[in-house]
Amino acid sequence: MSFPQHRPRRLRSTPAMRRMVAEYRVHPAELILPAFIREGLTEPSPISSMPGVVQHTTDSLKRAAAQAVERGVGGIMLFGIPEHRDATGSAGIDPDGVLNRAIADVRSEVGDSLVVMSDVCLDEFTDHGHCGVLDADGAVDNDATLALYAQMAVEQANAGAHVLGPSGMMDGQVAVIRQALDEAGHRDTMVLAYAAKYASAFYGPFREAVDSQLTGDRRTYQMDAANRREALLEVELDLEEGADLVMVKPAMSYLDILADVAAISPVPVAAYQISGEYAMIEAAAANGWIDRRRAIEESVLGIKRAGAQLILTYWASELALWLDDHHS
Ligand code: PBG
Repeated sequence: MSFPQHRPRRLRSTPAMRRMVAEYRVHPAELILPAFIREGLTEPSPISSMPGVVQHTTDSLKRAAAQAVERGVGGIMLFGIPEHRDATGSAGIDPDGVLNRAIADVRSEVGDSLVVMSDVCLDEFTDHGHCGVLDADGAVDNDATLALYAQMAVEQANAGAHVLGPSGMMDGQVAVIRQALDEAGHRDTMVLAYAAKYASAFYGPFREAVDSQLTGDRRTYQMDAANRREALLEVELDLEEGADLVMVKPAMSYLDILADVAAISPVPVAAYQISGEYAMIEAAAANGWIDRRRAIEESVLGIKRAGAQLILTYWASELALWLDDHHS
């Protein structure tokens, strides 16, 4: 027998062969498009650190949602930027607030053909930028915040959200939201738990996207990048509290966490490819340092391979278009 006996290269010999033996592929239905709507805008406003992403008007948001439907994208995750902020983030609860109106507008545009999700968090609505209300010492008050999340969740469900995404990392948030939804008769509204959400430098561009008022950091509530085991505790607690789906965030620097969670989770696992991950690839591609499309596809495939069944990515609609191209 001539050396080498095994030639794995055979299965890589042509595009058709590689396509046939591919172990993982991404489907548009698994993608979720995060989108921003800003109150008082007359036309979409570009976010400089996220080239290609805008703060939407109502009309442009509806168009983006309709385009996502056309391309077979699975869902949309809505974030609102209010005109007025206060200490308790009351614009986030107001049924006439920017986010609640956007949920209703998007639902009226897409009906049930796109899963409509919304962010349950106060940071876009507070004048201090924290994800919850502050106590007398200026610390984020977990339990006082939970009462507001419960109200916020009910208003978002009233507005028509299919899935609520509590992203504030308060202890017990899934339980209080589940209970409030049930009491308000929203038994079928789902909760996507941001189960393992890490305090990350890669949220930087998002802070520009939502015009964040934050001056400090979120290390007293978001997880420490040094911890792996703790992610499993967060997931277990959220499952006990009634989470329908769980998420790991960010994605690319936390693929081990994603694999750990995927190994134990009995519910679908999502990963959020966040603003800074988007920005890094866009910036390198804009400089001609990497091939933009290949880098995007490779990054999303890596997240899928690590165990994500659902992927939130700002490239969702563009990727869906490419994935439709069977000859790529
Ligand atoms: C909090 C929230 C953040 C993101 C999603 N929800 C910001 C934060 O935790 O500081 C970040 C998403 C991204 O960076 O793309 N409402």
